[in-house]
Amino acid sequence: MSSGTASALAHPNIAFIKYWGNLDGSLNLPSNGSISMNLGSLQTATTVQFEPLLTADTLEINQQTQTGPSLKRVQNFMGHIRRLSKSGLFAHIRSESNFPISAGLASSASAYAALALAATAALGIDQTEKELSSLARLGSGSAARSIPAGFVEWHASETHAGSFAKSIAGPDYWDLRDMIVIIQKQPKSTGSADGHGLADTSPFQSLRVENAPTRLEICRQAILERDFAHLAEIVELDSMMMHAVMMTSRPPLFYWEPLTLQIIKSVQNWRRDGLQVCVTVDAGSNLHLICPFGYTQMVTEMLKTTSGIQSVMVSPPGGPAHLI
Ligand code: DP6
Repeated sequence: MSSGTASALAHPNIAFIKYWGNLDGSLNLPSNGSISMNLGSLQTATTVQFEPLLTADTLEINQQTQTGPSLKRVQNFMGHIRRLSKSGLFAHIRSESNFPISAGLASSASAYAALALAATAALGIDQTEKELSSLARLGSGSAARSIPAGFVEWHASETHAGSFAKSIAGPDYWDLRDMIVIIQKQPKSTGSADGHGLADTSPFQSLRVENAPTRLEICRQAILERDFAHLAEIVELDSMMMHAVMMTSRPPLFYWEPLTLQIIKSVQNWRRDGLQVCVTVDAGSNLHLICPFGYTQMVTEMLKTTSGIQSVMVSPPGGPAHLI
């Protein structure tokens, strides 16, 4: 019997309107829709090689053999692929990312988007973009958004097939930059996978979910009209609402470090002074500063006045997950 091999590349994404909390945690069906931008400078490349003689999937990340929870999670995901393809084959999976993993940089998004595409291609399963997005979602919710190109919206739905992401605009539509400000490199203490499960323990989560369609509409329009002022306002409001839910969960989740808050306040001051820049923070202490390309240099200069920053990565909008 012949065995199949395929390689795929995907970019992580930064959410402008965040996903936090699930209707169904086993299927990663989100409580609310979300909108993101793929990050073209950051990528994960994954090769999947099915082998008839293997008795379990193996996983190598950045040349290190994985055991424990990260392997288990990938093996669970590969179980979905085997059910879909009615195949009993196991695979060697090798994955390389060009950015620090597990530091609130959504490495699981690019990882599961690349894995979903490489694994289905290796088995010769034809998937539409929609189907691939729903499939990637089973590995990591935000991976659904790393399948389509550019600026992407992921729809909330009560069904597996209904919860997929779709492009709102291609990567060339708006020349924005994500300036990723790293203040801490070690992995976060509570990963998003566990954090999602706590969302409903916050009294603010229902309000956040109820108001999501309004925020999504404002964000979608701001992207389509390339309206930075409105984008900035809604991106910051949405990030604060998610962190308010995190901080008021039981047990509470505090992802910010003092420097996170200091930079948030600086960004708001810079904007008041006329710089087109806004800030959003995921489940970690690092920050994403969003600005039009023309402001990158000025924002870089401003960041130099802040001590404690380890590094800054700059990314334009990125394309879709694709085979390599
Ligand atoms: C805060 O889908 O990345 O980044 O795969 O379980 O880690 P896990 O969850 P994931 O959650 C993303 C949460 C977020 C917001 C967002 O990207 O929408």
